[in-house]
Amino acid sequence: MNVKIVGTGSAVPKLRVTNDDLSRLMDTSDEWIKTRTGIENRHLAVEETTTGMAVEAAEKALRQAGITAEELGLIVAGTATPDRFLPNLSCEVQSALGAKNAVAFDLSAACSGFLFSLNTADVYLKSGFCKYALVIGAETLSKIMDWSDRSTCVLFGDGAGAAVLCAKEADAAAQPEGILGTVLGSDGARGMVLRCDNRPVNNPYVKNDTALSYVSMNGQEVYKFAVKTVPRVIEEAVKKAGLAVDEIDLFVLHQANYRIIEAVAKRLHQPMEKFPTNLQEYGNISAASVPILLDNVNNHGMIKKGSKIVLAGFGAGLTWGAAVLRW
Ligand code: COA
Repeated sequence: MNVKIVGTGSAVPKLRVTNDDLSRLMDTSDEWIKTRTGIENRHLAVEETTTGMAVEAAEKALRQAGITAEELGLIVAGTATPDRFLPNLSCEVQSALGAKNAVAFDLSAACSGFLFSLNTADVYLKSGFCKYALVIGAETLSKIMDWSDRSTCVLFGDGAGAAVLCAKEADAAAQPEGILGTVLGSDGARGMVLRCDNRPVNNPYVKNDTALSYVSMNGQEVYKFAVKTVPRVIEEAVKKAGLAVDEIDLFVLHQANYRIIEAVAKRLHQPMEKFPTNLQEYGNISAASVPILLDNVNNHGMIKKGSKIVLAGFGAGLTWGAAVLRW
């Protein structure tokens, strides 16, 4: 069975906040943010919601795939910032789209959320569960940022990306297409380097006056983890797909930091031209970064039939993952 991406879509909030805008709100500068991370702007939700952006991205992906919402058998959304605890984001998207035949659930794996969701859908489709699946990465990170912590809040943005997957019997005479190999990993023992606690328990038996928690991060530890782990997981996934790293046309990486992407390219001995970026415009959007960038390169004609593409994510958990696709 081949499982292929047949449509992509994305959506970001209207409000575009530059580094200079932030420097008027806190003690930071365009120079510091740009040289440390490559980020120049981010889009932040004002009226937009995680659900609204996810629905917009999904509608575009369905349109490109040329299928109706009713043909979807599965919706998996990677998110750490849904609008509600209940119902889940995927069910809200299902309702808005009218995807009444889909099973819909969320998956929490932070910045690896899209990769983990993609793999879940791939496994479902390869098992014969259904023909079409919708995979989403959607975040409103601005609501869990500590806006008094300049070392984290300048890095992140809001948005959503989506992909429609289709399962098709493989042609034995042709090369395999679609998702060729995926490798995922987790290391909970190091998880506290990037955290955001949930709301404190308050009930008739427990009184808790702890303030709401926001994202806190040991940036240098996350940096070291990323530059060491991402090249390794990419090499493993490419090998699993039966390819060599030099054969890969595009590396669509999680958009956390330009320096991390450069370090990965260097360790893989690949030119930066193979590593498209959009973090200059959007910053880090956690689970949404990879599908938004995939949609950007898809719409800019950078992918052709047969292109060999790596998608890779990493982040809180700690979690990481890479998938290799032949388009
Ligand atoms: N503007 C200006 N100065 C800032 C700043 C900001 N927005 N944020 C932090 N600083 C200051 C610090 O206070 C520190 O000052 P000090 O030396 O006087 O104490 C100085 O800049 C250096 O801080 P440091 O944290 O050592 O910087 P760094 O070189 O490690 O860069 C990150 C910080 C966050 C950019 C970098 O560690 C990083 O990108 N890590 C990976 C994070 C990531 O990708 N997370 C998401 C994973 S999904």
